[in-house]
Amino acid sequence: YSLRGFRRYSVEAQSPIAFVFDIDGVLLRGKKPIPQAHEALSLLNDKKIPFILLTNGGGVTEQDRVKFLSEKLDIPLSKHQIVQSHTPMEAWARSEQFQRVLVVGGENDNSRTAALNYGFKDVVMPIDIVKAFPAASPHHRFTAKDFLEYAKDVDFLKPVDAILVFNDPRDMGTDIQIVSDMLNSVDGMVGTKRSIPVEIPEKPSIPIVFSNNDFLWANDYNLPRFGQGAFRMIIERLYTETNSLSKSQTLQSTILGKPFKLQHDYAHWVLIEWNKILHGHQEHDFRPQLGKAPENSPFKTLYMVGDNPESDIHGAINSNWESILLRTGVYKDEDWKSTKHRPTVGVFDNVLEGVKAVV
Ligand code: G3P
Ligand code: MG
Repeated sequence: YSLRGFRRYSVEAQSPIAFVFDIDGVLLRGKKPIPQAHEALSLLNDKKIPFILLTNGGGVTEQDRVKFLSEKLDIPLSKHQIVQSHTPMEAWARSEQFQRVLVVGGENDNSRTAALNYGFKDVVMPIDIVKAFPAASPHHRFTAKDFLEYAKDVDFLKPVDAILVFNDPRDMGTDIQIVSDMLNSVDGMVGTKRSIPVEIPEKPSIPIVFSNNDFLWANDYNLPRFGQGAFRMIIERLYTETNSLSKSQTLQSTILGKPFKLQHDYAHWVLIEWNKILHGHQEHDFRPQLGKAPENSPFKTLYMVGDNPESDIHGAINSNWESILLRTGVYKDEDWKSTKHRPTVGVFDNVLEGVKAVV
């Protein structure tokens, strides 16, 4: 879908409300669309109410994700209408804060493509290290075809400056080993180990950024699955053991994604810009400032529609958005007693019911 496929909205039709949709458990279960999703998004398009997608998923470019979603949901979507878990990392690519980054997670080397797309110049992945040093991950699952198609020949005389976890690992054993090696390396040099104890044991030798904190997420299995938050817990536990941290110490890291306000503020900027494009502005790339909430938003109320109280609902409440919780994903009614983050609008069977409750 190109933007040309969108109807131009007249400027006076500015909507005082807007929607932010989670994807997994709201619009999709795994790769399968949730039946009511098409109707809910069509209803908003018909009423000229802007919406964007805010997902803790990722591992591909925004363009590829919306192309897939447009086909699955039969709804026109633009790459300017989505924030994935790692989308805010584009700001670090622009700032050139890190030269060489180790990107982890996702299918094949799709995350490398996404990182290069943001402007990172030197992107290494665990498969590159295992291709050069197969014994680095003795039980790796890569095939000769994988090495041929997805691995790069890398000059390992240059250090890795940061570890960016773009999505859930596919070869968890390899990613656990390589990430742990780098956190305990001598200044990011592959194949080295810093001597311990170090001055600040919680501080890894290079920074690590996790792009979401989801302990669980909903695919098309009947039970929720471990997410990137579970991977972080494994890395933290091994780092604690390696560095003999005390009970009160833990690996220093940065975590993006819902429910953190940085991610919701970033999404709010995206929504404001998308609204302009919907109302006739030329399609344009824009780069929100990280960590800065939009002032003078054109929206009186933002509605977050999600399936996970810990990420979607908690994040919405943190950002003073209204929140709608659905039964089509992680959340189950029997969890209500233990659910700390209660939706401000209510709990609905599916996304269409949730949207109809407020438009
Ligand atoms: O990795 C996907 C999972 O963490 C949840 O994605 O769309 O429900 O935020 P989403
Ligand atoms: Mg979800």
